[in-house]
Amino acid sequence: MPFLLIALLAGVLATAVASARADDAEASRRLAACTACHGAEGRASSAGFLPRIAGKPADYLYRQLRAFRDGQRQHAPMQWLLAPLRDDTLREIAGHFAASDPPYPPPAVSGAPAALMRQGEALATRGDPARGIPACASCHGAALTGVLPGTPGLLGLPRDYLNAQIGAWRNQQRRAAEPDCMARIAARLTPEDVGAVSTWLASQPMPAARAPAARLPGPAPMDCGSAHALGDAPAARAASASTPRIPAAGSAPPSPAAIADPLLARGAYLARAGNCVSCHTAPGGAPLAGGRAIETPFGTVYSSNLTPDPDTGLGAWRAQDFRRALHEGRSRDGRLLSPAFPYPYFTRMSAQDADAIFAWLRSQAPVRQPARPHEMRWPFGTQWALTVWRMLAFRAGGPPPDASRPADWQRGAYLVEVVGHCGACHAPRDRLGATRPEGPLAGGPVGTGRWLAPSLLSPGEAGVQRWPAGQIAQWLATGRAASASAMGPMAEVISHGTRHLTEADRLAIASYLRALPVASPDPIRAPAAAVPPGPVGAALYREHCADCHGEQGQGRGAWPALAGNRAVTQAQPDNLITVVLRGGFAADIPGEPRPHGMPPFAHRLDDSQVAALVSWLRASWGHQATPVSVPQVQQARR
Ligand code: HEC
Ligand code: HEC
Ligand code: HEC
Ligand code: HEC
Ligand code: HEC
Repeated sequence: MPFLLIALLAGVLATAVASARADDAEASRRLAACTACHGAEGRASSAGFLPRIAGKPADYLYRQLRAFRDGQRQHAPMQWLLAPLRDDTLREIAGHFAASDPPYPPPAVSGAPAALMRQGEALATRGDPARGIPACASCHGAALTGVLPGTPGLLGLPRDYLNAQIGAWRNQQRRAAEPDCMARIAARLTPEDVGAVSTWLASQPMPAARAPAARLPGPAPMDCGSAHALGDAPAARAASASTPRIPAAGSAPPSPAAIADPLLARGAYLARAGNCVSCHTAPGGAPLAGGRAIETPFGTVYSSNLTPDPDTGLGAWRAQDFRRALHEGRSRDGRLLSPAFPYPYFTRMSAQDADAIFAWLRSQAPVRQPARPHEMRWPFGTQWALTVWRMLAFRAGGPPPDASRPADWQRGAYLVEVVGHCGACHAPRDRLGATRPEGPLAGGPVGTGRWLAPSLLSPGEAGVQRWPAGQIAQWLATGRAASASAMGPMAEVISHGTRHLTEADRLAIASYLRALPVASPDPIRAPAAAVPPGPVGAALYREHCADCHGEQGQGRGAWPALAGNRAVTQAQPDNLITVVLRGGFAADIPGEPRPHGMPPFAHRLDDSQVAALVSWLRASWGHQATPVSVPQVQQARR
């Protein structure tokens, strides 16, 4: 009996260990988008600029990821990757790297003069009380390996990285939650101090016990308030305790089903279907308080505050003012609004729907946040330029719906053409940079043109006329379907918009999309200097891509198939080049398999390699798409 029991237990344990290992392997491939730069398991190296992220306190890592996503810390390639990820996902990623503990590289050998090293050691271990500089060790731990929950260690980091971080605090490029002690300390250090302490820290070996300390070695040397504790500054905590919680950007607003009042529930539902919340929330900012930047070819427009604050939001608005904004593109004071606000689509929204959204907005917590001025190139954005544009391109009320069609098509048309404003991206732009609601959904550039929204009319581009309705509905709910994975702006439309719709509404959209006329885009001729497909591309694919996408491009689980994938064969290769250069995460949807990242290759492949690889992909596995040229890759890289 005991033997059997032990054998049984051992068996259970072994499976648990094996499945934990499989989980680890899955997670490290899922996060290859991060380790592409940060090194296997986040270990980095002792040289260069890249920080080790492995083993840092989870709360610290989480705060940094939020800071990058929301713009308080800057690194464009990371911002690109993190932009679509929800707080929960960031916390999970932080936990993954906090728990990993790969070996450290040997410390940097420093040829620095002994006096400089002594100065560095003194600052790190004793500080300089005369100048109000506490010892680094008083916060970062006696062994300088960090303190839980939120202070990182300072050993095992490259000197250049340490230098750059302290420099970034000095010139306010890096900020932490207030009270930001590091900003004050950095301001008191001379450039020589910074060089000394960074050089000394980078040359220290890692002690055997390298885990962050459980608590501070002594009393806090300055009042850093909650910099040590979990979460935000005390003031922000108090404020958030007294004001009702409204959803953060990326986090889910209360489910319409949870709202008892049917009018408010309807408003909440439509506000999601129309992406009002995500467009009217700045990254990391108060929900609906505006300030999100919308890039246009003519400059940047900032969304308005839709909370019921009387001075800076819609507090003083009446229902008819709100209807007029949606239907005519005029603010309460009569100012003409920029069509970056998709009112050319909302102009056909029913009055009841507009009123329901208004009622829901009125039920939200007011947030005082003045409008951020637009940054448009002259004369775009002036009232007379908008007047001219409206004369040429805007018709209040829009075209009437086609009454001869069945009811689910009608509903789909309303969701696609009006509330979901799909044409704002999927319709071609005129010379004024505007899309026409009545125009065909034949595809066009999004915003400044980094992404192209492909044609919904062509089955070779984004057309889904040949997909079963259920598959379209599933794609609108998850961003995933056989050989298709929503990327960039489309992933956002799905995670903030269509995934919140009822299945009946997603099927209505499907029946509308399936009934769109089939048209082929104009054929594209291969660019003059196209790189022909050849063995270089094949070798690059085997080396860099086959591990995830399969030797034959067949894909596997969350790693999309590339064989037969329209993202690969679309006439315009722009999105394909963009995803290879910058990588990205699939739509981040609660309950779906955790998002899997595509690593960026911008820093690993040069322009001619990317061109060779992409040309090869477009000619493999039966694909017959035009090859690409080096200048096309250069263009996408800019
Ligand atoms: C293109 C290279 C690149 C990629 C890809 C990348 N990072 Fe970074 N990361 C950097 C650089 C460079 C810095 C330092 C930036 C600075 O100066 O603040 C950094 C900083 C960080 C930090 C702050 C470290 C600290 O100690 O404060 C964290 C955490 C981090 N990255 C996590 C991630 C995660 C998670 C991913 C994947 C979603 C990722 N990074 C993808 C280059 C990259
Ligand atoms: C009063 C407490 C305190 C003292 C003293 C202090 N730090 Fe910090 N330090 C912090 C906290 C808290 C953070 C994390 C900030 C954040 O969340 O971004 C930090 C972060 C850092 C980072 C960023 C690490 C990374 O991985 O990006 C560096 C570098 C740093 N400190 C260097 C120093 C040096 C050098 C000294 C001594 C001259 C020092 N600190 C003294 C509290 C302190
Ligand atoms: C693509 C981003 C985007 C989406 C989606 C969007 N808006 Fe806006 N909205 C804007 C921008 C940008 C402005 C500012 C226009 C200006 O100031 O000229 C704006 C302005 C407004 C205004 C005018 C506010 C004022 O102070 O004049 C109202 C009202 C409004 N939006 C409501 C909505 C509603 C309701 C929805 C959803 C059905 C919605 N918006 C969806 C970007 C968007
Ligand atoms: C903010 C711009 C934007 C809006 C709004 C938008 N799309 Fe897209 N859409 C894109 C981009 C960019 C792509 C190409 C990237 C991709 O395939 O995920 C795309 C791709 C697609 C695809 C191709 C799927 C595939 O992978 O083969 C379909 C279908 C689609 N969109 C339908 C819609 C519908 C329906 C709406 C309205 C509910 C909509 N889009 C709104 C930008 C947008
Ligand atoms: C670590 C695994 C991994 C590696 C390595 C990798 N990818 Fe990906 N790739 C992904 C994931 C995950 C996605 C889905 C992300 C998304 O939808 O945005 C993806 C998406 C794509 C897409 C878009 C597919 C679609 O349906 O929208 C293309 C194209 C692509 N990868 C090409 C490549 C090429 C070319 C390489 C080699 C240079 C490569 N990938 C290497 C994981 C990987």
